[in-house]
Amino acid sequence: MVEEWSRESWRTKPICQVPGYRDQTLLAETTARLGRLPPLVFAGEIRRLKDQLALAADGKAFVLQGGDCAESFADFETNHIRDTFRVLLQMAAVLAFGCGVPVIRIGRMAGQFAKPRSSDIEEVKGVRLPSYRGDMINGMDFTEAAREPDPERMIKAYYQSAATLNLLRAFSQGGYADLSRVHEWTLEFVHKQPPALRFQELADRLTESLEFMAACGITSRTTPQIREIEFFTSHEALLLPYEEALTRRDSTTGGEPWTATSAHMLWIGDRTRQADGAHVEFLRGVPNPIGLKCGPSLAADDLLRLIDRLNPRNEPGRLTLIIRMGHDKVLEKLPPLVRAVKAAGCSVVWLSDPMHGNTVKAASGVKTRPFESIARELQGFFKVCRDEGVHAGGVHFEMTGRDVTECTGGADNVTDVDLLSEDYDTACDPRLNANQSLELAFLMAEELRAEKQKRRDARRAAAAL
Ligand code: PEP
Ligand code: CO
Repeated sequence: MVEEWSRESWRTKPICQVPGYRDQTLLAETTARLGRLPPLVFAGEIRRLKDQLALAADGKAFVLQGGDCAESFADFETNHIRDTFRVLLQMAAVLAFGCGVPVIRIGRMAGQFAKPRSSDIEEVKGVRLPSYRGDMINGMDFTEAAREPDPERMIKAYYQSAATLNLLRAFSQGGYADLSRVHEWTLEFVHKQPPALRFQELADRLTESLEFMAACGITSRTTPQIREIEFFTSHEALLLPYEEALTRRDSTTGGEPWTATSAHMLWIGDRTRQADGAHVEFLRGVPNPIGLKCGPSLAADDLLRLIDRLNPRNEPGRLTLIIRMGHDKVLEKLPPLVRAVKAAGCSVVWLSDPMHGNTVKAASGVKTRPFESIARELQGFFKVCRDEGVHAGGVHFEMTGRDVTECTGGADNVTDVDLLSEDYDTACDPRLNANQSLELAFLMAEELRAEKQKRRDARRAAAAL
């Protein structure tokens, strides 16, 4: 028997990663205020994303999901949002133009403010304080006052998300994303590194194709698909009082399901994916596309149980599995999951997060991710998908358009020493910079071409029989 679901039913389940709010009355007052504020995204948009993800589940589209590990109040500026958006546009152009696959663009943006932590407590020189859990919960400074969870921060995160979304919508629909401006997305590259140069070549070819189309009468004036893009948002649905307050009834469908309106897509982290836990309970009831992080400790049986709970009607586009095994484990850990899901006949989108299984400490003690490991996990993911006969449906990156030095290696050859500079600036985990992101886009385009080739070969072999 399926248990009743309500917006609050998560409250009766065991929960991990919750902040200890001292003043429960203030928490209730704040979420009530949040509950009266307008939704950030709309049910129709969410349904469109689900339809597109259904295509990715069916091998006909590719998901590009990326953004900061954690957004922050201090780094909130127009240029920062624009630069991340711009690199995502470039990467999508590499994938779509490079291998003719429709790209679904999702920003890990406009709501990614709450972080799971490996320890509740941080200890520095004998002083113990609650860990930093993201700007929506507490502050990063190592002081008692900053580390106290403050409900008011949810309101601030809400307004920052609204302003970010407003800008993203304007960039998507207002001309910035127009393909005829492809060269302008590259202008601010400071370094003439191979990925940037390679992109300029691709942009030249793309421009020639657009000129040919214009000669046939197809231009950005006549064709909105050249002028505009759809851009969706996602974040980890970690702070459930916030998510609950933004879960609203959708009156446009007749059936009126409760819809999460904090973002189009929400995901469950690797640390909060207990099948009987609060986070799974909350997300199983909303109709949004859901992501599920799958780390190396996830057994195939548990995955099937989670799939059954999150997508009991096997709706295509509803569930995306975000694989984050680590470069040294993906070849061993992913195949059993793919086989089990295939054998059970479940429709899912397979996504690779090559970041979270590859975090290491540099000699200086700074957290980093070697570009080599990220690239290797990504290649391993594509290989497993090809070998097992499923579509590599997309990626999930922690990245920024800024010129940071947080992941070592790549075309910029970021070194351990660079990790100590002021360009190491993340609010949580190390991110790919613009050149490293672009380099990975070219690598993915190659892998996708190999997948296409394998499918063509299989069709030919079948036809020859
Ligand atoms: C994250 O995406 O920032 C994260 C914490 O990931 P995971 O749940 O996969 O560890
Ligand atoms: Co992270």
